[in-house]
Amino acid sequence: MSTETASAPEATAPDKHAALRLDAVIAGYGRTTVLRDVNVTVPAGKIVALLGANGAGKTTLLRIASGMLRPTAGTVHLGGDDVTRTPPHQRVRKGLCLIPEGRGIFRDLTVTDNLRLFTPPWEGGERRADAVDRALDVFPALQTRRGHLAGHLSGGQQQMLALARCYLANPRVIMLDEVSLGLAPKVVDEIFESLRTLATTGLTLLLVEQYVNRVLPMADKVVLLDRGQVVYDGDATDLDEETVLGGYLGTG
Ligand SMILES: Nc1ncnc2c1ncn2[C@@H]1O[C@H](COP(=O)(O)OP(=O)(O)OP(=O)(O)O)[C@@H](O)[C@H]1O
Ligand SMILES: [Mg+2]
Repeated sequence: MSTETASAPEATAPDKHAALRLDAVIAGYGRTTVLRDVNVTVPAGKIVALLGANGAGKTTLLRIASGMLRPTAGTVHLGGDDVTRTPPHQRVRKGLCLIPEGRGIFRDLTVTDNLRLFTPPWEGGERRADAVDRALDVFPALQTRRGHLAGHLSGGQQQMLALARCYLANPRVIMLDEVSLGLAPKVVDEIFESLRTLATTGLTLLLVEQYVNRVLPMADKVVLLDRGQVVYDGDATDLDEETVLGGYLGTG
């Protein structure tokens, strides 16, 4: 299919104030190259939807951004700083939070202990317990379950816990990998509502999402990956949904 609707990423001048930027990234696993010269800019305070078919390289891109995977070429910038060689935990300190597929919570720990583990010691001042209370205020669904084991929470509550943990680290950028996976539509609505609320506080969101129809109305920008290459990078409103999404995702 034609990619005429796609604006070449190279055509836009690099945004020095972007919350997150990947430039000319090549990455993969062993001998397999997954990302092929990928340029992605996530502007500060915006919601960016990262779309693409299964295996397109979305999770790999998030791993590169978070530092869990090193690119073989190219650079990663966080708020203007080159973090290409910065380990994941230091990127967290710089305000980046990834909620991975499967959520990454500790199932055998309680809600409170999961939150405590993510209370940044570098914050100082605020007591751990106060920080945990602050997070539970923002996610009231967890309030009454603070002593429950995380593994006994529903899928939606686990997702809330993952978000609450992110929130505790005072992030500037949150990346979510298929946050709605396996959740009922109503729960997905609730989570998207919390995401909208977070976005109004000036947070930057990078969302990998299967529910294209839900994510597009809230996205400021869309990046579409096809077999490791960016084939669309632009406004969600300019997206030729029928051809681009239908052609690349098979959802049209
Ligand atoms: N740990 C790994 N080792 C080797 N190959 C991998 C690994 N993880 C992913 N891949 C391969 O890299 C390619 C991209 O995978 P990735 O998980 O980034 O895709 P995705 O767009 O997130 O797909 P999905 O929508 O299914 O989650 C796939 O071909 C996959 O098989
Ligand atoms: Mg994935």
